[in-house]
Amino acid sequence: MIERSSQYRRLFFALSPDDETRAEIGSVVASVNAAEVGQVVSQANLHLTLLYLGVVDVSRQAELVTAASNIKPSRFKLQLDRVGYWQKSKVIWLAPSVLPDELASLVSQLRGKMRELGYDLDDRPFSPHVTLLRHVKRGSVQKSIAPLEWLVAGFSLMVSEASSQGVTYRPLQTWPLN
Ligand code: 2AM
Repeated sequence: MIERSSQYRRLFFALSPDDETRAEIGSVVASVNAAEVGQVVSQANLHLTLLYLGVVDVSRQAELVTAASNIKPSRFKLQLDRVGYWQKSKVIWLAPSVLPDELASLVSQLRGKMRELGYDLDDRPFSPHVTLLRHVKRGSVQKSIAPLEWLVAGFSLMVSEASSQGVTYRPLQTWPLN
């Protein structure tokens, strides 16, 4: 179901972990947070961004949904096995050291469809990661961890909503992987 409330929405495509994977990632967050000072991403907000669209007029949401519905991606497993820090964005992340072909293909199809719709996309190479902590001024973590296996079953169009409680990421529509 797609809801409409205000005229503009901050939208992105992402993978949303299932509850078990969310809890496992939460344990990694807890272990990292003991050593690093930053703002912990809540378990409910954990996700892996596939493509960031930015602020979009809701009148364009239906065409996004139609375009994404035409993608037929395959299921894949993601092994999250690296934790690290990016100084520029000041985030500590959890990432796979191997990019599955199915994931690369899904992102490339999404980019193609969104470009066809006229979205001006970030040209940087896709760097899959789940942000664990934000606003980390000086992160020192850089390590391999025992692989955390995530069987990815779907991808979502997400909205980022800001309130006095902070930012919430909410799926607007989810498509299953075959
Ligand atoms: P992240 O994936 O590194 O955590 C919603 O804002 C999501 O889109 C966040 O997860 C965010 O970063 C990702 N994102 C990618 N590019 C962005 C940009 N230019 N501005 C805001 N968020 C962006």
